[in-house]
Amino acid sequence: DKGKYAHYTLKEINDQRLTVVHAGRQDEATMEKFCNILASAKDIYITGSGTSYHSALIFKHMLARFGKIRAETVMSSESQYALASMDSNSVLVAISQSGETADVLDSVRLAKNQGANVLSIVNVTTSSLARASDAYLSTNCGPEIGVAATKSFTGQLALIYNVTDRLCKNCLETEKAEFAVAVENIIANQASIIKVAEQMKDASDIYLLGRSLHYPIALEGALKLKELAYVHAEGIAAGELKHGPLALMEKNTFVIMINPRDATFNDTISNAHEIKARGATVIGISDRKDDVYDYWIEIPHLKEEAYYPIVEVIPLQILAYQLALAKNADPDYPRNLAKSVTVR
Ligand code: M6R
Repeated sequence: DKGKYAHYTLKEINDQRLTVVHAGRQDEATMEKFCNILASAKDIYITGSGTSYHSALIFKHMLARFGKIRAETVMSSESQYALASMDSNSVLVAISQSGETADVLDSVRLAKNQGANVLSIVNVTTSSLARASDAYLSTNCGPEIGVAATKSFTGQLALIYNVTDRLCKNCLETEKAEFAVAVENIIANQASIIKVAEQMKDASDIYLLGRSLHYPIALEGALKLKELAYVHAEGIAAGELKHGPLALMEKNTFVIMINPRDATFNDTISNAHEIKARGATVIGISDRKDDVYDYWIEIPHLKEEAYYPIVEVIPLQILAYQLALAKNADPDYPRNLAKSVTVR
């Protein structure tokens, strides 16, 4: 039931005020089993499709940075070419909202045939993926009806943070409720996002740039813009700008810089200057205003900078939703797409 909301997608974006908290709450025994299998693995592969693959990228990053644990990410659709050297000491972590994505289930089969353990993060706990796993964690965010993944993504991130925190023995700042407050804050103050959506209505190309943990969010924002607003959008690692994409920057290009105040801030600001000098319109998603931004979408400052992805993705979801409305597209059921891709 979408209640007072015009669309499921809008409801599910709003649900995130609560679901980011619920996802983190996990049965202690399951959490322990999940983390023990992960910690004792010789090698770790993390897989998923679409949005869930973007969670995989963030998981890899978190494990490396805070757990000093090396993991490889594999897009599920590529797993048949990449998952060939597993054995009984390997672990495949499969991330999927539905738990029914054919490519993901294929990668699980491949891992099992090689004797590997399978862990998963799912939203649907009765799914084929949950049943095929040695242990699974539930994102616990209720049914997601809109084709675009929204609350399941931030739920996956909340779990990834919890697992990481456990593996690094509580090295993340303890105030986990702070991102819930931040999400609430963004949802309550959408004026700047709506203004940007109005400007972008006729854009033919939108680029999203970020470094480190913000790069997967650039990819995720681009995916939301493609599927909801039918616009060409591309996520780019900001440091790659000079290696090619800078040639695309001109008047009428829109560039969204995902740039909270962390270790990546200054480098990304330099990129913003390079882009602006070519006449493109620069939009900053940040907790700090800067003159280089033509438009600034403010996000709250977080004490734990590793949590920014969960917060900065919300304005991108809202932006894609608003652009879909402006283009008379149905945000809940984008053309040509299915909620769960059960065939290859
Ligand atoms: O159910 P899953 O998480 O396995 O689905 C994976 C993708 O098909 C899914 O995330 C898709 O990319 C979304 N429509 C993106 O919003």
